Amino acid sequence: MLGLLTFQVTYYVVFFKPKEDTPYPALQRLVTNVDAFLWSRFDISTLTEDLSDWTDSDAVSGFEPVSPLPEVDISPKDFCPLLPPELQGELFVQFDPEFPPAYDVIAKANKHLSFGGRYKPPQCSPRYKLAIIVPYRDREKQLFWFLSHIHPILQRQMLEYAIYVVNQAPGALFNRGKLMNVGFAEASKRDRYDCYVFHDVDLLAENDMCLYHCPEFAEEARSNPKHLSVSVDKFKYEALHYELGLCSPVPYQASEMQVFGGVAIFTEDQFISVNGFSNSYWGWGAEDDDLFLRTWRKGYKIDRSHMNECSFHMLPHDQETKNPKSPMRYVLLKQSLLRQNTDGLNSLKYRLLNKTEGLLYTNITVDIAKPSDKVFELMDLMKEEFGTESQFSCFEALVWMYNRLPTLEATKSKDKASGL
Ligand code: UDP
Ligand code: BGC
Ligand code: MN
Repeated sequence: MLGLLTFQVTYYVVFFKPKEDTPYPALQRLVTNVDAFLWSRFDISTLTEDLSDWTDSDAVSGFEPVSPLPEVDISPKDFCPLLPPELQGELFVQFDPEFPPAYDVIAKANKHLSFGGRYKPPQCSPRYKLAIIVPYRDREKQLFWFLSHIHPILQRQMLEYAIYVVNQAPGALFNRGKLMNVGFAEASKRDRYDCYVFHDVDLLAENDMCLYHCPEFAEEARSNPKHLSVSVDKFKYEALHYELGLCSPVPYQASEMQVFGGVAIFTEDQFISVNGFSNSYWGWGAEDDDLFLRTWRKGYKIDRSHMNECSFHMLPHDQETKNPKSPMRYVLLKQSLLRQNTDGLNSLKYRLLNKTEGLLYTNITVDIAKPSDKVFELMDLMKEEFGTESQFSCFEALVWMYNRLPTLEATKSKDKASGL
């Protein structure tokens, strides 16, 4: 108890100083290390997945691109223009959410698609080949609006692309990050792409000058991942940022970070180097914040330079009962950088239930398991103790978890022994 008290005092003294000009760099380093150590004792990601219903033979593990690199076209046609003349500028997006066009109507309006929701411009060499990955469950009307809106835009932009809708099987809590990882793994098995566009189903670009282009080389011959949906009508077109306070993970050097949800674009190398999304966020919230932190940790600076051209309309929706705000998202976030190398593409496990190449998109239905009973238990306890809103004190959570150390430790070693 004395140790905890000393820690609490040090924490307040050091962490409430502005980070940049703290007069206690050595002390701060020490506290930072202690902080990392204490939080690493409650690595809740080790409790996260319940795979008990699966047999080894029907699960897909990890990520392995199996297709060869695309052949280089030795007689390239001219590159398609950067800003094709067919672009229309501002687009109409205030559709009636209840009445999307039917599948056949969308198919008729997009005659040049091939199966899998693929397109390649016939008249010129496309500058980029994209895989659009859409995390999905039970939002059919939104999906039809999305398809009817995005296909013509990408074709006018003269891009080569394929759309993969990753449909989570009914039952478990929704897990957006894990679905994105599955989409990446499955798309890269089918083909090699210049980049992967991780795209929510409810976001519609308001202007086709918002180019779905892959990251370009920037400083030191390195490119940066892009965030396309910085400006969304639902958030009054303001770039959201959050104050993490003591939930800021070690060694992130600021307590503020920017929104990274909605539409984000990574090259294959970038996505592999950050180890993809975390698989541990069940329910709504913070999986995109975790990706932001992973991306920062690998030295990237997220590219938001297209903010003037890009804004999005979000189709209206309620929060799904199977996607409630996660009461443990801030605690997971606090541990995000401790987990980065072990939780992501390299620990991905799923069961492929169906893969169908329809005309408008490739459907991938997948069982991504469910959180373990221990996670549910912890979520319930945390919900009771802290609620699910943003006013969350990671310091209080740490003390709270510390007081439950014997129970949690027991949980942890038991689950470790069972191989999770
Ligand atoms: N989503 C889905 N079904 C669900 C929950 C989420 O398809 O039951 C997908 C969908 O692509 C959605 C994205 O996950 O756009 C993000 O969820 P949501 O829109 O609820 O989060 P927001 O960004 O609006 O807070
Ligand atoms: C959540 C993010 C979300 C953002 C905007 C944050 O509090 O953690 O997951 O994208 O709010 O809704
Ligand atoms: Mn939404």
